[in-house]
Parts: sequence; structure tokens; C-alpha cells
Amino acid sequence: MKHLIAPSILAADFGKIYSEVEMLNDSEADWVHVDVMDGSFVPNISFGFPVIKAIKSVSKIPLDVHLMIDHPERYLQQFKDVGADILTVHAEACPHLHRTIQQIKELGMQAGVALNPHTNVDQIADVIEDLDLVCLMSVNPGFGGQKFIYNTIPKTKKLRDLIDTRNAKAKIEIDGGVGLQNAEKLLQAGAHVLVAGSAVFKADDPKDTISRLKSIGKDIYMV
Ligand code: DX5
Ligand code: ZN
Repeated sequence: MKHLIAPSILAADFGKIYSEVEMLNDSEADWVHVDVMDGSFVPNISFGFPVIKAIKSVSKIPLDVHLMIDHPERYLQQFKDVGADILTVHAEACPHLHRTIQQIKELGMQAGVALNPHTNVDQIADVIEDLDLVCLMSVNPGFGGQKFIYNTIPKTKKLRDLIDTRNAKAKIEIDGGVGLQNAEKLLQAGAHVLVAGSAVFKADDPKDTISRLKSIGKDIYMV
């Protein structure tokens, strides 16, 4: 299977959110990446349940919801109800990460864990078999349009080794500062899913950019 492209809706024009999602439906995008920020875990606030529900009402592709919020365990059912297909929580925000992962799966969603740039992949070694997705933050979460942190490349390789060694099924997603300039390196390092916000929505031709991201590394298939 080929790598997946998950455009981040945070970089879209919210004044025409329906047509932005329709553009994704009509493109080679695999998932819509939905960034939820609470102004506490990260220094920014994005949007909440009504906006996600609106996106879901139009989207023909799965919603990949990235929670940058404290105590995400309080809201798992609500995110399921508004249409999250994949639900990702931050390891740094979850004192009982194993329990939270199980609850996400019990609700019928795929479970993801995101790691900030300073968090070592060893932190999730004891739950790796339970995960559908590991999101490596390649910027400090809170804002779109930031510069890619290069250490993510060796970090991706290390995580891929861990996943392969343990024969785990988790996909590796890279989030922040991803675009045509670094996509190939990330895929070679072992990434399965590329999130791209500004690179897609600020491009002259977003659909064409999605196709180009999708066709990079043609011969790199997921194991
Ligand atoms: C950052 C968010 C990212 C962001 C990516 O806090 O989690 O998903 O929207 O945007 P770009 O691709 O512009 O860095
Ligand atoms: Zn994100």
C-alpha cells in the first residue's frame, strides 16, 4: 500500500470550509487532518465540536483528529459523536495513556498517540502494539506554517525500527512543516502518513500539490 496524504484543514479558508472539504474529496487526499487546540496544552485555540461536525457532514474521507488538549480522556465520546475516525492524543497530556488508548478503541475509533519534538519514541515502547498511529510532531504543536525540525528524520527511523522489530501495525504520521521539499526523505526514513497544511492550502493549486505529494517515492511501499 502506498503512503497516505492527510491535508491539515487548519490551513484552509474557514469562510468556505465546505468547498475546501469538497476539494479534498475530489483530490487524492486519503484523510482530513483536523487539529483541535485548547489554549492550555498549546498556546493557541482552533475549533471544537460544531466545526468538526460540519467538516464531517461533507467529507467523503476519514477524519484524522489530532487533539492538542489537556485531559483528552474527558471528551472521547464527543469526538466519536462528531465523526472522528482516527483519534490521536498527546502522550504528554495523558497520565494514563494505556487506558485512554483502550477507551478510544472501545468507542470504535482508531487510536493514535502524538509525540512532541522533545519526547523520545521510547516513551511509547510499552504501548506500541496497541496503536494504530504514532504522530511524530516535526514542529512544536500550536500553529501551522512553522519550520520543519530536522531531528524528525532520525526519529522516524528509530520509531520504524521499533515498530518493525515488535511486528506492530502502527502507522507513522509526520506532522508539521511537511511539503514537497522533505516528503521523500520522510518516506525513506519510514513514514506512512504525511500531514501537510500550508504546503497544500497555500499552494496555487492545492489538488495538484496533493497529487505530487502522493506520487513522491512511487516505489516506497508500506511493509
Ligand atoms: C500543528 C498542527 C499541524 C499543522 C500543520 O500544531 O498539529 O497539523 O496544522 O501545518 P503545516 O503543514 O502548515 O506545518
Ligand atoms: Zn496536527
